[in-house]
Amino acid sequence: MTTAARPDGGNWPTMGPLLSLVALLLLDGASGQRVKVEQEVLSYPGQSVNVRCAFTDPIGIQLTQVTWIYEPKDGERINIAVYHPNFGAHYLDSPQKGRIRFTTSPPSLTSPSIQIADVKMTDEGKYICEFATYPSGNELGITSLVMLAKPQNSASTITVVAGSKPVAVARCESANGRPAAQISWVSSANGNGTTVSKQGADNTVTVSSEYYMVPMAADNGKDISCVVAHRTQAKSESFKMKLTVEYPPQVTIVGYDNNWYMGRTNVLLTCQATGNPIPTTVTWKILTGEMPDTVVVEDNKLKVLKVDEAVNNTFICEVKNRLGLGKEQITALVRGTRLPEKGPTTGSIIGAIIGVIILLAIIATAIAMYRKHRDNKLNGDGPPKYKPPPPKKTKAPTDRPNTTHEPVPENRPLQHQYYNTQNAEPVTDLDTFPGDEDAEDQRERYLSGAPSGWDDPEHDEVPPPYMYTSDPQEHDAPRDTWDPRDTRDPRVNVYRDDSFVSPAMFV
Ligand SMILES: *[C@@H]1O[C@H](CO)[C@@H](O)[C@H](O)[C@H]1NC(C)=O
Ligand SMILES: *[C@@H]1O[C@H](CO)[C@@H](O)[C@H](O)[C@H]1NC(C)=O
Repeated sequence: MTTAARPDGGNWPTMGPLLSLVALLLLDGASGQRVKVEQEVLSYPGQSVNVRCAFTDPIGIQLTQVTWIYEPKDGERINIAVYHPNFGAHYLDSPQKGRIRFTTSPPSLTSPSIQIADVKMTDEGKYICEFATYPSGNELGITSLVMLAKPQNSASTITVVAGSKPVAVARCESANGRPAAQISWVSSANGNGTTVSKQGADNTVTVSSEYYMVPMAADNGKDISCVVAHRTQAKSESFKMKLTVEYPPQVTIVGYDNNWYMGRTNVLLTCQATGNPIPTTVTWKILTGEMPDTVVVEDNKLKVLKVDEAVNNTFICEVKNRLGLGKEQITALVRGTRLPEKGPTTGSIIGAIIGVIILLAIIATAIAMYRKHRDNKLNGDGPPKYKPPPPKKTKAPTDRPNTTHEPVPENRPLQHQYYNTQNAEPVTDLDTFPGDEDAEDQRERYLSGAPSGWDDPEHDEVPPPYMYTSDPQEHDAPRDTWDPRDTRDPRVNVYRDDSFVSPAMFV
């Protein structure tokens, strides 16, 4: 439990009175004792620290004397201050002598808090407030003084060469902090952090960590972060880096289609290589004999102007960087006649179909959003504000637009009217996005709130009564053209099966 003051603020006097009260209550509740203290006080060196202590509920108890005891981290308890009502305050020999005093003068036996001025890193430890009482004997409360020092954090990657043994690829350090920082690593690489701490000057600690892994070519450029958490930092400090793994070129030759037939012109082989450092030289070689005159080599490209027996051979591409050589070869087979061209594979046909479907889905969504946007402008953000039109207008408009982008303008008020009058729970949320969970909820609520079964598409396909007053094709045509996922279109609720069938097409 941290009941201490903010690290920058020192101690109690800077805390809000409410916070202090809460701290006291918490401690009292936790200990169940009559000696109230803070569990922990934080301070930077040079500040003045108040270590508070109070004896609550002294009724029926004789307080005779209070003693402050200091217990260093690794050391024995020593008395540092004593107060007796008859003999006054006395400060004993201690590291804090001269910097310590009771906060009130004269000291109070029921709240003998002390102040330590110009606090030092070495003042860290436990401060014990002990009352001598009658008849219950000694009672005490313990406060830990935690000294803080802001660490200097740093991190760097180590450039390594791909290999088979684990090596340090990144380093991170949190220097001269108090208490010790926690260092952790976040990386998609497959390695481990090893952390060591060493004592620095003035009770501070330097924590350093190295990230070890077996470096592989594929690890080059991977993200790695060192995360340093420290008591003095409101949040962890994160150092984002990229691993640097050097490796010799990895070469592939692309462009050979196994269809080099006699007389074919302008076939191209391309030599592709990755490497760190970036490869500089690319060399094409032929396995046997000289490079034929029909072959033109330019950088990483090898072009056969005309296929003949001379290129019935093996071509080698060699790529160099500082670390070495990478090579790849391809054996070209020259045929007498060309192989039949392969048509598009089933896979690519399916791919193309899926692509078209996705495109259509995107267009449909765009249309739906456009319409929603426009309707919002027309209707405002709340429930429909217009009055329902008189029933005689339920006749189908003769000039109904037939584009897929246009909803039937005369029809929309109709549907709202239908909702506002028939539905036990009016649909007011017209702003919901299509596909939104709220929209689903809305629809479910609407269905469950329906006064009769006729508009439950699960059980009844019959359209709502007002539809019969329309042109017979009125409810058929828009079903195909309107985006059924558009939950603003109330017909979705009516023809619920539509709203399920159509999205299935997009899967
Ligand atoms: C990392 O540590 C885990 C368990 O602590 C161990 O199984 C794994 O081999 C270590 N990996 C490396 C690269 O040291
Ligand atoms: C190319 O070489 C292969 C053997 O490696 C041979 O079977 C084939 O007939 C040769 N093609 C021509 C056109 O010479």
